[in-house]
Amino acid sequence: MLITKMLSPKSVLITGCNRGIGLEFVKQFLQLTKPPRFLFACCRNPEQATDLNVIAKSNSSVTVLQIDVTKQESIDKAKAYVASKVEGDGLNLLINNSGLVGRQGVEDVTREDMLKCYEVNAIGPLMMAQAFLPLLRQAASLSPSEPLSCNKAAIINMSTGVASISENSSGGRYPYRASKAALNMITSNLSLDLKTDGILCTAIHPGWVKTEMGGPNALISTEESLKGIMSVLEKLQGEEGSGKFYHGVRGDLIGW
Ligand SMILES: NC(=O)c1ccc[n+]([C@@H]2O[C@H](COP(=O)([O-])OP(=O)(O)OC[C@H]3O[C@@H](n4cnc5c(N)ncnc54)[C@H](OP(=O)(O)O)[C@@H]3O)[C@@H](O)[C@H]2O)c1
Repeated sequence: MLITKMLSPKSVLITGCNRGIGLEFVKQFLQLTKPPRFLFACCRNPEQATDLNVIAKSNSSVTVLQIDVTKQESIDKAKAYVASKVEGDGLNLLINNSGLVGRQGVEDVTREDMLKCYEVNAIGPLMMAQAFLPLLRQAASLSPSEPLSCNKAAIINMSTGVASISENSSGGRYPYRASKAALNMITSNLSLDLKTDGILCTAIHPGWVKTEMGGPNALISTEESLKGIMSVLEKLQGEEGSGKFYHGVRGDLIGW
């Protein structure tokens, strides 16, 4: 049996950190017993990310980076910056958190609604994984005998329970459900393709969370959601932690 090691990745990159779950991720990583040496907190408009900039000002490990996951130049520019900072250590943990909800139903959904959600929720995370792959490989190569984990090298994709095909019981929300289901397939595929590189890849549903996306009637706060997610991240050890779809709050698996 694997012994669970404390969550302590040396470097972490998270998208969509200006608000909601992404902002709370930054706060929770800073509260770890051993916080990351490099915490790359990405957002589309750094100059407008007031709360995030306050955190970065008082924590030298936090770098606010511009990334729009639909713009390849911004991904490539951020990757070059991260590579210059982490040098030979690579990147331990990539969290594809940014997301876009599209609630349109069968009568009113448009081609544009579908494309927008696919760009942000599925294609963006895949292009992020592709761009940061050399840095994740570099990190994994430093501890070849260690089991897969978020401390070694991992990609975590923020999915949603409503992307589950097996648990779909209410219909609707075509852009969101379909694009996040595509993200789930990308997650499963990456876990297979990157296993031999020593890179873990898993999808997590954060619960129904009070954010701009979740709305005020959601069931839990970002703190409650992240408390669960951080403990799931810590428990992801070995091949059995990869290629899965976890409920971040309950800690159990969701059917694809
Ligand atoms: N809240 C929930 O109940 C819930 C439930 C299930 C899953 N999730 C998932 O959890 C993740 C975080 O959700 P949240 O509740 O924190 O949502 P949120 O409050 O709406 O925040 C979404 C984040 O994604 C960013 N984003 C949107 N488009 C982007 C793009 N093209 N490039 C880069 N960043 C972009 C937003 O940046 P801007 O401010 O610039 O728009 C914002 O930082 C999402 O993937 C979501 O699908 C949330």
